Order: sequence, then C-alpha cells, then structure tokens
Amino acid sequence: MERLQKIIAQAGITSRRKAESLIEQGRVKVNGSVVTELGAKADPSSDEIEVDGVPVGKEEPVYYLLYKPQAVISSVDDHHGRKTVTDLVETDKRIYPVGRLDYDTSGLILLTNDGEFANMLMHPKFRIHKTYIAKVKGIPSRQKLKTLEKGIELEDGKTAPARVKLVRGNSKKENAIVEITIHEGRNRQVRRMLEAIGHPVDKLKREQYGFLTLKGLNAGEYRELKPHEVKKLRELAVT
Ligand code: URA
Repeated sequence: MERLQKIIAQAGITSRRKAESLIEQGRVKVNGSVVTELGAKADPSSDEIEVDGVPVGKEEPVYYLLYKPQAVISSVDDHHGRKTVTDLVETDKRIYPVGRLDYDTSGLILLTNDGEFANMLMHPKFRIHKTYIAKVKGIPSRQKLKTLEKGIELEDGKTAPARVKLVRGNSKKENAIVEITIHEGRNRQVRRMLEAIGHPVDKLKREQYGFLTLKGLNAGEYRELKPHEVKKLRELAVT
C-alpha cells in the first residue's frame, strides 16, 4: 500500500504536492469513491485509481519528440496563460514534458504519459548527454572554455566536466556560437555556466538529447519516438 499522492506522482501525472491538492479538491477516486483524505493509501496494482475520471497508469504509453520554439513554457499548464509544450502536440493522452527547457530556450524536448519512463530519464544517475548551441556576447577565449570543460563553480556547486567547442566567433558583431555538451540538468545550467565566464547567452537551443536529434523538424513540429528509440533510451538508463 502506498500513499495516493505518491502513486499519482509516480505515474508522472504531476508532482506529489500538486497530487495532494488534487486529492483535497476531490478530483481523485479510489475504486469509484472520491477520497479527499491526504493520508489515504491504495494498492496501485489492485485498486482502481482515477484522476478527473481518467484511470491512472492505464493509458497506452506515448512518446513524442518536440522541437520546442522559444517563448513556450515546459509544463502542462501555465497560470499566466502562456503557451505550453503540451499545447503543441495533438493527442488525447495526458502527456507532460520530460524535464524542462527554459521559456526562452528552443530545441529538443521529450513528452510522454509514461511516468516510469519519465522518472527514469530525469533521475540524476541517468547521465544522458545533451548538446546545446549558444549564441553568446563576446568571443570566449580558449582558456575560458577550458574552465567550463573542467567544471566551474556555480552557486549550487561545481559542474561536472563538459565538452565545449567554439563554433565561430564574429569579431565585428562581438558575438560567438558555442557548442556545449553536458549530462547534468540543473536549472538554467548552460546559461549560468557561460555567464560565469563572462559571456552571457543571447540565444540557446538544445540540439541533441543522447542519440536523438532535431533532424527533419522545424520549430513547433514534433514526431513520435520509434519503438527502437524508446528501447534504446531504456537501455541507456540501466547501463
Ligand atoms: N540550460 C539552460 O541554461 N537552459 C535550458 O533551457 C537548458 C539548459
């Protein structure tokens, strides 16, 4: 038996805290009866749990790769009415993003309704490489980029080693394109790393997530992951 909010969060529907609020709002049923008590427990394998009338964990799993445009928020809904990544994918399934990209960052993001899959990919021990292309102010020196490669002290600790490449520098416009590959996923990490060496980011795009790329997609477009891609991601997580 597990607490209802834990079951709902593990199914990937929402965070544990928001699950508590769903319970309090009377939106959760166990075996057909509304449960509003926060301490209530259930057995996910034998009890029928529903959120807003939709059985938890019973949806057929779906997996999407979206090319998120800038000015879109990486969540299921937004209090300020901004466009969200789930608005861009046409589906009747209850999908949500795997991790997040900043509002102003574009690029590759996965969406799914498979909570176990999403939790696995977001786990800190799952060190999938993510490659970003950043347009920065100024032209960073080789030496500064080296400090990023080795790891740089940020306010939440030193970053893990990264791969960093100066793609090109434009001395007239005083800006540069930098490619950076990291496997951590801290909040605004790439922006903070480049800021820390004195080259703030103007534009940021995630080009690659492990072996997945944006090939064939324009901003705002998406495709379903192929079964072999889902399988490969699962295999990466266990190795
Ligand atoms: N790093 C950032 O700074 N922003 C993102 O959106 C992703 C990684």
